[in-house]
Amino acid sequence: MVAEALAFLVTDPEGRYLDATLGRGGHAGAILDSHPGATVLGCDRDPDALARVKNELLPRFGNRLGLELLPFSSLHLLPGGFAGALFDLGLSTEQLSDPERGFSFNLDGPLDMRMDRTQGSRASDLVNLPEEELAGIIHRYGDERRARRVARAIVEARPLNTTLELAEVVRRAVGPSGGIDPATRTFQALRMAVNDEPGELERGLESAVSLIKPGGRLVTISYHSGEDRIVKLFFQRMSGHCVCPPGTPACRCDPANALVVITKKPLQPSIDEVKHNPRARSAKLRAAEIRNHVPVKRGGDPRKR
Ligand SMILES: C[S@@+](CC[C@H](N)C(=O)[O-])C[C@H]1O[C@@H](n2cnc3c(N)ncnc32)[C@H](O)[C@@H]1O
Repeated sequence: MVAEALAFLVTDPEGRYLDATLGRGGHAGAILDSHPGATVLGCDRDPDALARVKNELLPRFGNRLGLELLPFSSLHLLPGGFAGALFDLGLSTEQLSDPERGFSFNLDGPLDMRMDRTQGSRASDLVNLPEEELAGIIHRYGDERRARRVARAIVEARPLNTTLELAEVVRRAVGPSGGIDPATRTFQALRMAVNDEPGELERGLESAVSLIKPGGRLVTISYHSGEDRIVKLFFQRMSGHCVCPPGTPACRCDPANALVVITKKPLQPSIDEVKHNPRARSAKLRAAEIRNHVPVKRGGDPRKR
């Protein structure tokens, strides 16, 4: 959804844009190619992604492209004044297709799953958690109905060292799964927990709102319902709507009049795009325009407090 993302994002052809999920630099490169007066700061938490873009794109764009190794939770450290910011969430093709990263249930590799391999716990640490805790992660982040059964099977099969070992155990525990690989939800849950994806996303969006100039756009592309729900609630709350659960006696979510939602419903890829890029089939694009500057403050989804 490169063309659609750019159509929402670029309001100033000479603006400075934040690509918070640089990946292979596809979106960043497209902004710079189509708008010769624009500049981009590309950030990613994955040092491998930055190294690749440094080799492949920097020679082409020179100082129009800045690069920062930065997780969403540190974006507030950047100087503001961006004309827009893009969050193309999830994993890059490079991360998914490298067996050594441990993200794929179809490729044999270590149980790693860290986007930044220089720090933090690996998936191998999580599969060794107590059964209850493991079931909670698989249920909460993977929406897996059979989370308890999966957690029990993992505990019984330990030690587990590789992605294929884990995938086999999960497939046996889950059984047929309505067209998707039965290991999908558990792998998604572990990956989200390893990288604290929900917390990172909430903090990144909060920061972006304060980094973008009024009139600039915040564009997100999410790939599963958990991510999309965080963005949707954030947009609602930042456009002045209370998102507290029904029945909450007094509002605790601290709504702000910071933005106006442009996409009432999320945009989804065309049939043609899905044919060329099957991974895009679950993509949902949302966009909002910043109206008022708000300083970074840590609000978030009150349902999780
Ligand atoms: C779908 S890819 C982006 C692809 C990119 N738009 C392109 O066109 O090549 C998502 C990227 O976001 C990065 N990412 C995900 N969560 C992040 C976070 N919390 N902080 C920084 N980068 C993150 C991943 O490492 C990955 O490289």
